[in-house]
Amino acid sequence: MRQRKIAIMGLGTVGGGAYDILTENREYIQATQGIDVTVAAILDRTSAPLQARGISADLFCDNIDKLAANPEIELVIETMGGVEPAKTFITKLLENGKSVVTANKELLAKHWSELEPIAQKHGCGLFFEASCVGGVPIIRAIGESFQGDKVRSIYGIINGTTNYILSKMSSENLDYAQALKQAQSLGFAEADPTSDVEGYDAAYKLSILASLAFHTCVPYASIYREGITKVTAQDIKNAHALGYEIKLIAIGTRDGDSVEARVHPLFVPSDHPLAAVSGAYNAVYLNGDNVGDLMFYGAGAGARPTGSAIVSDVIKALTGKPKYTDFDNNGRLSDGIDFIGDFMSGYYICVTVDDKTGVLSKISTVLSDNGVSIKSAIQRAGEGDTATLLFLTHKAREHSVMHALDTISKLATVRSIDSMIRVM
Ligand code: NDP
Ligand code: HSE
Repeated sequence: MRQRKIAIMGLGTVGGGAYDILTENREYIQATQGIDVTVAAILDRTSAPLQARGISADLFCDNIDKLAANPEIELVIETMGGVEPAKTFITKLLENGKSVVTANKELLAKHWSELEPIAQKHGCGLFFEASCVGGVPIIRAIGESFQGDKVRSIYGIINGTTNYILSKMSSENLDYAQALKQAQSLGFAEADPTSDVEGYDAAYKLSILASLAFHTCVPYASIYREGITKVTAQDIKNAHALGYEIKLIAIGTRDGDSVEARVHPLFVPSDHPLAAVSGAYNAVYLNGDNVGDLMFYGAGAGARPTGSAIVSDVIKALTGKPKYTDFDNNGRLSDGIDFIGDFMSGYYICVTVDDKTGVLSKISTVLSDNGVSIKSAIQRAGEGDTATLLFLTHKAREHSVMHALDTISKLATVRSIDSMIRVM
């Protein structure tokens, strides 16, 4: 059996996971896939990650031009992360006819439409199953299983770090900082965890998933994004009391030529399947016009699950047709698409007010004047002479709710608007 030589750029959590799977399961892959894959070069900043795994220093490479020019290497795994130098390195590799397997959702969300044509021009492939939802084969499912369906909606928990943090805050009363630290030490978080907790990572993934599912370019910049940093322990307690869990949800919907794409915390009813997705697990709840509702569930981050997706792409690339998507066409296909910013949602609103008669009625009037209808309202005694008001609204327009909140914040009897979280 001929050896198929590949390289890894970035031997960290994911690159290391992929390396371990490829070496531990080398014989199994030979027997089941009929190919012998060996890692023949590893590019990283230093050789320390190789030493840590007992890998020969002979494999270490710190020069992309050497790697790109190496005729023995036919494919490179990119698991460094970030836009640069990953983009420059991948471009060089593709231009030298080497297929690339990447987990880099930021790079794909921002530059996919530039990279895919380079891959096609040079007859190689750009593969990215590991970029979204860790070990869950969601890219392949969307790309290869719904050809007869118009996908209407995607609701996903697609960031493991934030789901881990919210789950720990919800079930173990851990504070935010402790939970984030744990997620970092388990290898789920991005090098800069701001990307996770402020919702950027989920927005990158939504851009990729929605672009594939809706057969149009859903630019990262068209996605409304809000992270979990304002979600408090009290919000989580209130959500439980009202029958909800708080999750960071990515939502993509397509209705004719209208596309809505957003990432933000959401009150999810406790009996909804997404409410039960905890820890670093991810789930994508998808609706197609013929297939109906489907839910994809599994580990959304971590060395082995993501490494598994990488290895699957390596084998696909080495055994199949070197092409992944027609994304280069999607810029044209997105012409005429209307990206909706003024979406409809239910809302949870928490306000601290002076504990005086008439305050509740004033706030209700502002909401009603803005076309926002209250589903339920609860008043609780607050500290000193204050009260806390909790509202759940019926579905309302985002812009109307924002306008109402702005007016409410200016009422003399309102001390603070403590929270606003959308409700599923
Ligand atoms: P790590 O930080 O664990 O690993 C990255 C590796 O690449 C490190 O060894 C790092 O070295 C090296 N590296 C970074 N920049 C350069 C550079 N310019 N030149 C040479 N080497 C470089 O990251 P992860 O494995 O967690 O993530 C890698 C990619 O996979 C990212 O795109 C991430 O978004 C994605 N991903 C991560 C998942 C996870 O669970 N962690 C899951 C799915 C996708 P050094 O440490 O010295 O900086
Ligand atoms: N930081 C990402 C997450 C890694 O937590 O989901 C997986 O893409």
